[in-house]
Amino acid sequence: LVLVVDFGAQYAQLIARRVREAKVYSEIVPHTMPVAEMLARKPAAIILSGGPSSVYEPGAPSIDNALFHAGLPVFGMCYGFQLMALGLGGTVDNNGAREYGRTPVSVGAGGTLLSDIPPAHSVWMSHGDSVSKAPDGFTVLASSEGTPVAAFEDTTRSMAGVQWHPEVLHSEHGQRVLEHFLWDIAKCRQTWTIGNIAEEQIARIKEQIGTEGRAICGLSGGVDSAVAAAIVTKAIGDRLTCVYVDHGLMRKDETEQIERDFVAATGAKLVVVDAEKQFLDALAGVSEPEAKRKIIGREFIRSFEAAQADIIAAAPEGTTVGFLVQGTLYPDVVESGHGAGAATIKSHHNVGGLPEDLEFELVEPLRELFKDEVRAVGAQLGLPDVIVHRQPFPGPGLGIRIIGEVTRERLDILREADAIAREELSAAGLDRDIWQMPVVLLADVRSVGVQGDGRTYGHPVVLRPVTSEDAMTADWARLPYELLEKISTRITNEVREINRVTVDITSKPPGTIEWE
Ligand code: XMP
Repeated sequence: LVLVVDFGAQYAQLIARRVREAKVYSEIVPHTMPVAEMLARKPAAIILSGGPSSVYEPGAPSIDNALFHAGLPVFGMCYGFQLMALGLGGTVDNNGAREYGRTPVSVGAGGTLLSDIPPAHSVWMSHGDSVSKAPDGFTVLASSEGTPVAAFEDTTRSMAGVQWHPEVLHSEHGQRVLEHFLWDIAKCRQTWTIGNIAEEQIARIKEQIGTEGRAICGLSGGVDSAVAAAIVTKAIGDRLTCVYVDHGLMRKDETEQIERDFVAATGAKLVVVDAEKQFLDALAGVSEPEAKRKIIGREFIRSFEAAQADIIAAAPEGTTVGFLVQGTLYPDVVESGHGAGAATIKSHHNVGGLPEDLEFELVEPLRELFKDEVRAVGAQLGLPDVIVHRQPFPGPGLGIRIIGEVTRERLDILREADAIAREELSAAGLDRDIWQMPVVLLADVRSVGVQGDGRTYGHPVVLRPVTSEDAMTADWARLPYELLEKISTRITNEVREINRVTVDITSKPPGTIEWE
């Protein structure tokens, strides 16, 4: 275990991911955690992240110097590098020489940390203060124009640091630097491999649920719940029952994919609840987006609870169904507790949106994993690509991609158009470059067109291709014209009710990704 101490910059998660890419398990802890508590977790090394600005600012985050005398390997980056220099007796100057962005560094004595790294290369810097004197016992390894001490190490104490951000892609050889620290200086073992991750999670879940326990898992069609279910099925076999509520708002073939491919790949016990009529009846006559979201959320809980009651009733005599599986990811775990008081832009519904008074113990097989690790584990467990690499799809499904009332007929129209758009995007090899591409049916809008010799009076659809890192912000994707043309021609030819295809070129903000 390597602990990444978060000084409040946005880089801690990225660092943790890079450490894991170096096959070493890592977790993030806040800088406010007492050092004794960090040590009690018996980490193999500690990494100090970048941070806000100057170590001399009043109220600047700091860390107890005891950390540097605990006999543990420590690596500092940027702000963490300066804290380390200061804490160990070096000097940090507030000399006004700032460096931001891509910066050339010269490597002198490369030492262990920078061994076999080219003497001149570019890294990503972001600092105002700089270290002017390394602490006693440390060798200076590199410098830049703005800072004489840009990297140092003391291999006898297994400590090192760099002024730059090795975790960002703009820093050349950044991963190599991190590996030198982890493997060669801190002597961490490389055990965090995809095979091991799956094994470890399966063992952990076996232990939690025991040899008698029974569990339920809600499947959404997305990668998280599918991988969570696959892991738990490996752990407890048919003592897990998966529930998939088919609300009739899924895209073309998605329900069949779950019924057929998911079960074939995992052998999971699956109950499919056909609730299309229930959802469409409840949605009849409703156009207002929040009202639709609330209805879908409510009906979902109803269907899920009904299915759950059936499963509990059908459990063999003397056994109880006491566990509920959820696909919570590590970033959710790190972030919960932060960000209170944010405005409600949309009331999200997903399979995690279950009632709070459920009397279940939660099972969270993905709690320690990042999304890319979840996908890798999914692939390792044999889940098909369509599930493992599925783009994000909202819980309320196509219900919030029909602007206007949701009806079966409109859903069928949208399903056809959406299937064509997705097929062409995949054929163009762009699936992984695009975060997602909602197709939105403007069901209450009609426009005049001409097809063959006749007048048409049909609906428009909107393509909403976006690129994003985390869906919090997004940019509209510049899809090639040829692809747009192909999608447009096929949709207007193949879907009779649609006579116009448009592209949404709004970033987020100000637009959200979904239209409702
Ligand atoms: P917005 O539209 O808020 O969407 O920019 C951000 C991301 O969240 C997805 N989304 C949802 N996901 N339940 C979900 O599970 C929801 O109710 C929901 N609404 C939006 C959206 O597809 C995008 O990826």
